[in-house]
Amino acid sequence: MQVSMSVNGSIEGRDVEPRMLLVDYIRDELGLTGTNIGCDTSQCGACTVHLDGQAVKSCTVLAVQADGATVATIESMAVDGQLHPMQQAFWDEHGLQCGYCTPGMIMAAVKLVDGDPDISDDAVRHGLEGNMCRCTGYANIVKAVMAGAVAMAGGES
Ligand code: FES
Ligand code: FES
Repeated sequence: MQVSMSVNGSIEGRDVEPRMLLVDYIRDELGLTGTNIGCDTSQCGACTVHLDGQAVKSCTVLAVQADGATVATIESMAVDGQLHPMQQAFWDEHGLQCGYCTPGMIMAAVKLVDGDPDISDDAVRHGLEGNMCRCTGYANIVKAVMAGAVAMAGGES
C-alpha cells in the first residue's frame, strides 16, 4: 500500500506492506534510527514519537494508519545544532545511562510537561509510567524532566 506522511518536516512516501509498523517505517524505510525498539509488548516506550502532536508508541500504530499524518522523531528535536531544552536538561541532570530509553523518554516528556513548568515529581512519574528505563535511572530522569519543563517555559517556574 502507498503511504505518505510528513516526517520531521519532509514528505515521505513509500510502498509498504499493510502490516508494517510505524516504528519500522521510521527506522527501516527512512533510516531514522534514533527511535528505538525495546520490547515486543508495547510496554517500554522506547519507540515514542509525536504523531499529529501527540506522544504515541510507534510500535502500536501501523504505517498505513499514519498516512497523511505529521510525525516528529527525536532527530527533529535539536535545531541548528542546539539541543531542545528537554534534551539539554537530560544532559545536565544526568538523566541517562546507556541512553536506550532516552529518545522515547524525551519525546514523551516534551508532551507531558508542555506548558507546565510547575509539574510535580508525582505527575512526572505518573505521566511517564509507559516509559521504562532498564538502567533504572528514574530519579535523575524525573529531575531532568522537571528541569526541562522549566526550561521549555523560558526558565521561569
Ligand atoms: S518498542 Fe514500542 S513500547 Fe516497546
Ligand atoms: S538509560 Fe539505559 S535504559 Fe534508560
